[in-house]
Parts: sequence; C-alpha cells; structure tokens
Amino acid sequence: MYDFSFNISTKILFGKNQLDNLADEIKKYGQRVLLVYGRNSIKKIGLYDEIVKIFEENSITHFELSGVVPNPRIDKVREGVKIAKDNDIDFVLAVGGGSVVDSAKLIAAGFYTDSDPWDIVIKKEKVTNALPLGSILTLAATGSEMNAGSVISNEETGQKLGWGSEYVRPKFAIMNPEYTYSVDSYHTAAGTVDIMSHTMENYFTLNDGAYLNDRFAEGILKTCIKYGPIAIKESDNYEARSNLMWANSWAINGLISAGKSTEWSVHAMEHELSALRDITHGVGLAILTPAWLEYCLDDETSEKISTFGYNVFDIEKTDSQIDDAKKAIEALRNFLESLGINLSLKEEGFSEEDLPIMAKNCLDNKNKSQIDGFKVLKEEDILNIYKKA
Ligand code: NZQ
Repeated sequence: MYDFSFNISTKILFGKNQLDNLADEIKKYGQRVLLVYGRNSIKKIGLYDEIVKIFEENSITHFELSGVVPNPRIDKVREGVKIAKDNDIDFVLAVGGGSVVDSAKLIAAGFYTDSDPWDIVIKKEKVTNALPLGSILTLAATGSEMNAGSVISNEETGQKLGWGSEYVRPKFAIMNPEYTYSVDSYHTAAGTVDIMSHTMENYFTLNDGAYLNDRFAEGILKTCIKYGPIAIKESDNYEARSNLMWANSWAINGLISAGKSTEWSVHAMEHELSALRDITHGVGLAILTPAWLEYCLDDETSEKISTFGYNVFDIEKTDSQIDDAKKAIEALRNFLESLGINLSLKEEGFSEEDLPIMAKNCLDNKNKSQIDGFKVLKEEDILNIYKKA
C-alpha cells in the first residue's frame, strides 16, 4: 500500500426524516442561500416546496438558480456566480443529482474570484476559498455529495473536464433514499453503472497490496449487482434505493482508492463521449468498460480480472486464468445489458469519424501523452478501445 491521507469531513444525514435538520445545518454557515437545482424533478416530488417552507419558517433568505442540465454547462455556472455575488450569498444548497452538485461546487469556488469560473476548471486559476455548500441528493450515481470533485462542460470549446478542490467538499449531505423513487429506470441503470465504474476504476490496479480496499470494492460491486435490478423493477423499494445510495458515496469518497495508485482510464475516455454527443455518463461508461477490460486483458492483468470474476460474479475457478478472466468480462457485459443499456457506440449515434477526434481530445484534455492506468493507454490504444465499443 502506498502512503495516503484520508479525511472526509462531509456530515452525512441519511434516511427518511433528515430534512428536519436542514435549517440547523445551514444556519451554522449562513442565512442567505443560493438554491441550485435542475429542471423539474424536485418540484414533481414535492421536495422544492418542502425546502422553501423550511426557509420561510426559519427566516432563511433564498435566491435560486434553476435549469442545470445533465453534463452541466459553464454558462449556467457563470449565471450562478453572478447571482451569488449580486446578492451577498453566504451558503450554496445543491438539490438534485451530480450535475447540480457539480455546478454548485464551481459556483461556490467562483464566488471568490474575479476570473471566469472556467479558468478554475482548466486550472488557470487556483481555488483558494469557496462558499460553504451542502447538498440534498436525489439520484444515486456520482458520489459528488461526499467528494471534492466536479465535472463541467463547455459547449464553446467542446470540452467536458473534471476539477477538484477540498474547499468545495460539501459540509453536509442529506440523503433520503425516498427522493430517488422517482428516478426512471434509464437513469437508475445509468447511476448504478456509474457507481460500479467508480469502484472498478479504483479496483483495477496492479501490485499495490491494497487487499482490504479490494474487498470493500467487491462489496460495493455486489451491492450494485443485487440492488440495481431491484430498483429498476420496483422503483419504491427502500432497501434497494438505500443500498444504492450509500454505495454511491463510498465508491468515490476516497476510501477504496486510499493507498492505491489509480488513474481513471474509462472516465477519461467517457467524458469525450458525453462532450461530443451529450450522452448520459453512465451509459457511456457501460459501453466502454467491457471493451476496455478486454483490451487490457493479458498475462499481467488476468489475475486481477479473474479475481473480479470469482469474487463479484461467483465465477467458478478453472485451470485457465485467462479463460476465467474472459468469463468475468462476459459476466459484466451480460449484467450491464440486463439493465437495459445498449452497449454500442454506433447505437448511441457515434460515427467512425468521431472516434479519432475523441481519442486525440482524450489525451489533449489531460495534457498528457498517455493514460497510466491498469494498462498504459496511448492515443492508438484509446482509438482501438473506441473501435471495439
Ligand atoms: O433536471 P432534473 O429535472 O433534476 O432531472 C434529472 C436529470 O434529467 C434527473 N433526476 C435527478 N433526480 C431525480 C431525477 N429524475 C427523477 N427523480 C429524481 N429524484 O436525472 C437526470 C440526470 O441528472 P444528473 O444530475 O445529470 O445525473 P448524475 O447524478 O448521474 O450526474 C451526472 C453528471 O455528473 C458527472 C457526470 O460526468 C455528469 O456530468 N460526474 C461527476 C462526478 C463527481 N463529481 O465526482 C463523477 C462522475 O463519474 C461523473 O463524471
């Protein structure tokens, strides 16, 4: 295991009645709140009205930024920073899925700079402070409610880029699994894949001796495999929704990556898909992951991939580790298909001509000549994986 530091300061308020604590949590930090949300899902489930009532009853002044879309845009963040500055906001409350939380994080950091918030994303501007923010999560997928990362798209430059800072790690996250009952089967499937992908990005490493992390990771993966299909069939199954919600946080809050050297190959490749065609992030991950694992499979990686098969998909051990690893990838592919996701770039509207553009952008956007993940991937390798997918 490599050296690591681990400190998750986000207070988790998990369960059915935690909204009762909202006003007290906010008042620790401020009284003038910017409420950030998406289109109409929080209104449909009645959550918006409940929050506004709590604000009124507790003399919390609030301003709003609505209309955050999936693969959230920098323009909306700019709008949010302006509202925050014009109205002396002292707290940002994100209510929604990862796109909303990610936008709120950049608004919180953008408040303290005169530069364009996109400069923060491209690392031209260093984050030295941020407004405190909290989140009320309504979709289990990204884990953004308990981590310090954010992913923002810029339509002008055609980029979708990740950035992060400890300053924007949420102070608290209210996580009521009932809020996710209304998530449709498509987004439930995509969210489940996102949780699994975060876990696999951390799991598929070599020679780090992080045995415990990998057993934690297998537990998260098994949780998704057990409860993803149940949540798709029975959208109001509390046990399924609560297990997925909790798995979502632990897949990406630093626990399973601690002591490992991880470089997120599939996410880097996926961000080019959603930057170019605005597809749902989890769907892009589902398409790429089996293709990526097949491409990585060799004598060096077969032990890890076959272990994944034995421990996650209960595949029977044979004399051939390579064959077992192939079965593991097949089991993963079958599971992803069973969630109702098309595992083909072509079916998602990508053409042959798109592939070299995305392969080039994938490295250019990281300012790197290769991705040093489970297997080193150069531009040609990334292109080959896109072709396989
Ligand atoms: O706009 P609304 O009406 O809110 O609808 C949303 C949206 O259409 C809907 N939704 C959310 N909660 C709902 C609901 N519908 C019904 N009932 C509810 N309770 O779901 C749709 C998708 O929402 P979005 O926030 O985009 O989904 P998700 O949480 O998957 O976030 C995806 C974004 O997060 C980034 C992705 O790249 C993508 O941009 N990621 C962020 C990460 C992070 N910060 O650590 C890591 C992730 O891997 C990922 O890259």
